[in-house]
Amino acid sequence: MRATRPVTAPGGVPLLGHLPALLTRPLAFLDTLPDCGDPVRVRVGPREMYVVSEPELVQRVLADRVAFDRTGPLYAKIRAFLGNGLASCPHADHRRLRRIVQPAFHRALLPHYAAAMTEKAAALTAGWRAGQVVDVTREAFRLTTAVAVRTLFSAGLPPRAAEELRAALDVLLRGLYLRVVLPAADLLPTPARRGYRRALATWHAGVAAIVADHRARGIDRGDVLALLLAARDEDGRPLDGRELADQVATLVLAGAETTSSALAWSLRLVAEHPDVERALHAELDAGPAGAPARWQDLPHLPYTARVISETLRLYPPAWAISRTTTRPTELGGARLPAGALVVCCLYLLQRRPELFPDPQRFDPDRFAGELPRGGYLPFGSGATKCLGDRFGLTEAALALATVAGRWRLRPAGPGPVRPVPRLVLSPGPQPMLLSERGGGPSRWSGPVSGPAG
Ligand code: HEM
Repeated sequence: MRATRPVTAPGGVPLLGHLPALLTRPLAFLDTLPDCGDPVRVRVGPREMYVVSEPELVQRVLADRVAFDRTGPLYAKIRAFLGNGLASCPHADHRRLRRIVQPAFHRALLPHYAAAMTEKAAALTAGWRAGQVVDVTREAFRLTTAVAVRTLFSAGLPPRAAEELRAALDVLLRGLYLRVVLPAADLLPTPARRGYRRALATWHAGVAAIVADHRARGIDRGDVLALLLAARDEDGRPLDGRELADQVATLVLAGAETTSSALAWSLRLVAEHPDVERALHAELDAGPAGAPARWQDLPHLPYTARVISETLRLYPPAWAISRTTTRPTELGGARLPAGALVVCCLYLLQRRPELFPDPQRFDPDRFAGELPRGGYLPFGSGATKCLGDRFGLTEAALALATVAGRWRLRPAGPGPVRPVPRLVLSPGPQPMLLSERGGGPSRWSGPVSGPAG
């Protein structure tokens, strides 16, 4: 078949192309794309990107790391923030970094990390009171950053330093999406640009301080950073200071907002689906029964796991995985130039009706059966598949079980939630009203111990 020029999405305006739609109603705009073709060309000001959501094409882009690499202006922006971290490095550096970071996420370490997850989930919810309205999105982010700090840097930061880092992360995550779709955002000396630069400086200084502190105090406190300090590549070389800081920054970013967004969406979806809520509560009442969920509870919580899986289908936090073509390339019968930005849209892939009947419906029982091949990739695929997939799933399930075991949540804000696609697909602020399940005194109070006591 002769390769042709890809179809352009309708609705672009002169000069700006599809930028207004991407900024004001990104998901509604994306929903129109599968009808246009695959890949479909989207114009962002003077630049173009090619969106794919067909399972075979997504697989091909993710598998062919020579033709589709993590290079180009988008990854340059990400690297300005994260450095050359495992999740954003080009193909040439990937193998070495993956080899070094991977052992810190070995399956055998999960129970150890899970103990910190249980402890932090219990601590967060212990501060909640019946009748209180909490922003679930914010609470979930507090939880996952607290877990990241504990499991990555162990000793933990003083609360003020941790809060500063969290606040900087928030500014950066919002700023990154804007800079990706609107590169000119960096050209004008606006207060927003000053805020972004300040946050970037805070972030870099904070991470460098954590690494320096670890080096100074010596090795092995059983956290990820200690494992990274001790790790060597194939040639016996350790990571240098800069490389270490880059990996730490990457792991916080890759792990915290993705998992918190999955948790926040799951709490919302459960609250909006009484049948799912009933089934979830029944499972939790027969299991942890209001106590914080622990690693050893997980085998008895299959429905909880399905709720998380279905949440990740409807709202994949990594909703768009992008690559840049390194040479002129044919994709799905279309001819792409070298340097083209190709976006694998997991949000569209996982809502394709031929893969998931009635795709907009939230139905955790889909995951009781077989999944369509190549149709469910919330953690990506191939050599760059998420390193923290089990970590994230464990954390989200433990947190959901801990919250829903004791609390019933109801939306307290006006109107439906509007997803906010940043680099991660976030639900945006989500005020919810807390009531204690069973209405009586809490069924649990007291210390938490992990699997190893
Ligand atoms: C629900 C939670 C999560 C989701 C949905 C998610 C999703 C993803 C996806 C789609 C990728 C592939 C990106 C690509 O191919 O360019 C990825 C990569 C990665 N993720 Fe996750 N992630 C989650 C949690 C985590 C956690 C908890 C960590 C670590 C603490 C983590 C660390 C990483 C790293 C290091 C990579 C880069 C892997 C590589 O390029 O070799 N992720 N993640």
